[in-house]
Amino acid sequence: MPETVLCVNIDHIATLRQARGGIEPDPIAGAVICEDNGAAGITVHLREDRRHIQDLDVTGLRDVVRGKFNLEMALSDDIIAVARTVVPNQITLVPEKREELTTEGGLDVGANMKRISEVVRIFHDLGVVVSLFVEPDKRVVALSAETGADFVELHTGTYCNAKTGPDLQKELERIYDAAQYALSVGVRVNAGHGLNYRNLPQILSTPGLEELNIGHSIISRAVFTGLAGAVKEMADLILTARPA
Ligand code: PXP
Repeated sequence: MPETVLCVNIDHIATLRQARGGIEPDPIAGAVICEDNGAAGITVHLREDRRHIQDLDVTGLRDVVRGKFNLEMALSDDIIAVARTVVPNQITLVPEKREELTTEGGLDVGANMKRISEVVRIFHDLGVVVSLFVEPDKRVVALSAETGADFVELHTGTYCNAKTGPDLQKELERIYDAAQYALSVGVRVNAGHGLNYRNLPQILSTPGLEELNIGHSIISRAVFTGLAGAVKEMADLILTARPA
């Protein structure tokens, strides 16, 4: 069994910054904190609409991230051009719709075989590992293997949204089977989307699981674990900085 590591998706640090259009909170400073505290890598999604992460974040992160720098991206010429310049350690190809709040569903590998295989070759030539974000479905994993991709990132969203015990069990089995199948055809296994502090433990039984990409729950938790100190610091400043 390989070691399972955490890559923190820091998109939502940038979401908060973009809400004011200023410079804080800075995702690059956030990446340093993540890596100093146990993250094996940093993941960002450079979306075509640039709603959170910006091109400058990506180039800055390339210089700062010491572990794995994983760039999520759609099959878009514009973003592929950025990624070819930046040369992250790994790209993860994801589907993207402008109107969605977050990535919905896995990549339609069957409909994009030729393009995905081309992109895999382009990035392999640059020494970049390629992962495909896919539904935990053996047929999609089989097609992913045909593209030459190194990894599949199994979409855990349906598992995370399951409301009943049987649904949850069914989704866990789908993830387990898809992972086992991926390993049998020589494809390595990552997973992510919707994972949080409650639903994580059961995912850790996934065969061969190497990397978990987790974002929203960590950034959400950070708001509350950091809030007390942030308020205290401001209240203290008001007390101490007031002119006598
Ligand atoms: N993996 C992929 C491919 C994603 O698109 C996302 C969301 O950007 C994540 C993992 C992380 O999901 P979450 O923010 O729900 O942890």
